[in-house]
Amino acid sequence: MDYLPVVLVLLGTLSSCLAGAPRTTTPTTTPTDELSFQAMVAAPVNFSSESRIVGGQAANPGQFPHQVAMVVEAGEGAGRETSFCGGSILTETIVVTAAHCIPSETRKITVYAGANSIHDEPTKQELEVDSFIVHGGFSKYRNDIALVLLNTSLQFNERVQAIQLPPKDVGALVGSKVVMSGWGRTTTHGDISPVLRYVESYVLPNPVCQLPYLLLMQIDESHVCVSGLFKKGTCMGDSGGPLSTIKGKDGNATLVGITSFGMKYSCLVSWPPVFTRVASFLGWIEDGMEQLQGKRRPEGVKHLSRSTTRTP
Ligand SMILES: *[C@@H]1O[C@H](CO)[C@@H](O)[C@H](O)[C@H]1NC(C)=O
Ligand SMILES: *[C@@H]1O[C@H](CO)[C@@H](O)[C@H](O)[C@H]1NC(C)=O
Ligand SMILES: *[C@@H]1O[C@H](CO)[C@@H](O)[C@H](O)[C@H]1NC(C)=O
Repeated sequence: MDYLPVVLVLLGTLSSCLAGAPRTTTPTTTPTDELSFQAMVAAPVNFSSESRIVGGQAANPGQFPHQVAMVVEAGEGAGRETSFCGGSILTETIVVTAAHCIPSETRKITVYAGANSIHDEPTKQELEVDSFIVHGGFSKYRNDIALVLLNTSLQFNERVQAIQLPPKDVGALVGSKVVMSGWGRTTTHGDISPVLRYVESYVLPNPVCQLPYLLLMQIDESHVCVSGLFKKGTCMGDSGGPLSTIKGKDGNATLVGITSFGMKYSCLVSWPPVFTRVASFLGWIEDGMEQLQGKRRPEGVKHLSRSTTRTP
């Protein structure tokens, strides 16, 4: 274990707790915001929209072959909403994401794999979601996990790959170096970041992560937090996107978390972003995959109608 980062993140979180707390007063309601918790508390801080989105480093093509982009269309008429999420490839046909990315009124989900830019790129694969399953215990900041089944198989290549799940006994990973990736946008009202971005950080002990969230919610063992200290202003990935271990020279990356929530401008005030801890949901993932693949009674599975039924 790497002690120095742990000490640094401890200090960083404590100081951010003091610095950030007075800002947590004005609630707003943006139900499908990327990090709705985030939006709830930081409304008084008015940074430019650019500083909110741009940050981290641009990813190299193929650096995160497990990363997908998801465009989720929900609602009808005036209630219609299009939002943007990330996800991680588990198999040729199954992607894991956050439950809050898939509201109950979802009509259509388009998935883009093999793309650094989700604009035209020859390596991009565009697929549609046939069905999905959301964790039955999902409520706001808990059990924020969902699986989607694609309409056809992804073609795996150096730009499109599955990410491995952690072993059951992976432990709390405190102090481990991890990386989050995403395009940093939550809605398609305007352009998203032109290229995938990423930022590296360290896993915090949960009791430390709890401090800044003390009056807001309970951080439990099904959450994993990372330090917001190191890269100010750059810690935002997309909801549903991966928090993974750093890929070793000959090893593979492992999926540690799913981007779930944080404070708005988390990183500007060093507030730690929070992820769904994948190791806490290995049983649920296995069961959900079997349901989606028809190997088990599809009790929680919801189907989306095919695009042919919609007007062009
Ligand atoms: C926040 O910033 C935007 C863009 O810079 C500006 O138009 C808006 O008036 C600001 N809002 C507040 C409350 O200062
Ligand atoms: C799957 O969805 C994609 C994107 O909408 C579409 O181009 C493709 O034809 C679909 N494949 C099948 C087998 O339905
Ligand atoms: C890395 O992933 C590949 C493909 O999934 C797999 O065949 C290989 O065994 C993995 N390597 C390690 C060290 O886990």
